[in-house]
Amino acid sequence: MVKQVVTQAVKQTNAAGELTHLLTLEGMPKEQIVQILDTAQQFVSVTDPAREVKKVPLLRGKSVFNLFFENSTRTRTTFEIAANRLSADVINLDISTSSTAKGESLIDTIDNLIAMQADILVVRHNVSRAPMEIAQHVPTFVHVINAGDGSHQHPTQGLLDMYTMRHFKHDFRNLKVAIIGDIVHSRVAKSNIHALTTLGCPEIRVIGPESLLPSDLDMLGVKVFHEMEAGLKGVDVVMTLRIQKERMEQGQVPEGNAFFKQFGLTQARLALAKPDAIVMHPGPMNRGVEIESAVADGPQSVILQQVTFGIAVRMAVMSMVAGN
Ligand code: NCD
Repeated sequence: MVKQVVTQAVKQTNAAGELTHLLTLEGMPKEQIVQILDTAQQFVSVTDPAREVKKVPLLRGKSVFNLFFENSTRTRTTFEIAANRLSADVINLDISTSSTAKGESLIDTIDNLIAMQADILVVRHNVSRAPMEIAQHVPTFVHVINAGDGSHQHPTQGLLDMYTMRHFKHDFRNLKVAIIGDIVHSRVAKSNIHALTTLGCPEIRVIGPESLLPSDLDMLGVKVFHEMEAGLKGVDVVMTLRIQKERMEQGQVPEGNAFFKQFGLTQARLALAKPDAIVMHPGPMNRGVEIESAVADGPQSVILQQVTFGIAVRMAVMSMVAGN
């Protein structure tokens, strides 16, 4: 287990400014985000269902190790699909049956994977900054991709969300984006706020109860709302989030029904946003808690497109860190 939080910034680019790890979207330059989105756009054609061979040889002979210390459906699977489409070999570690359960330290596990000639380590961990600690430890020929660390960052989710917004809304410069719910525990919200700010989004709103909002939002230039009605008015993008019970103390968890009453995304509330607003959710969804089914499955929902775009975005990131 990682016990210490590493406060030192870890570099994710080399001397030439090329991406060598993907750890955070905080501080990532605009050109680099755009480069990843543009690269992903090229990979969308590789993943086109009409294409007979959905593969390119960019990572042939390289090994991608999926190391998920927390549950995952979409992220882990789309990393695996993306690695396969790049012709890499993929090894999925089953943490519940690995030696972590026997008390092996994280760094010892990592050293063993390096000894197995890993090229890319895709890491999800409940401890914030664990992937940064790993990146600091590995030799230069091993690349670390953060697949979600605690409540800190989820950079590939942030990037696929940017890809989705750009796809449907084209330009960030006139966009109003509302993020709803458990922001304080959400690494997805943090990565989105950093990326949207860098891409020039003029209005980022968060909507939620005081207890679920971080205290530094003003510093980030985000507008805070405690009521759905005011917060949703006139927005182009509505993103709602799951309540992250696993990161809360007992007694802190809001009651589902009461939350839905105040902050649930219903059709009536969505009608306050622009008529062509899109609805996003990183998944997993809790229907009837943060979103009602009519909205999740409705015509404005792009929730499943987000998942599909995630493949191309993860292909872009892996090919950029290890394909140079
Ligand atoms: C999110 C995560 O794990 O941070 N899911 C995802 O990766 N698509 C959000 C969540 O768990 O609620």
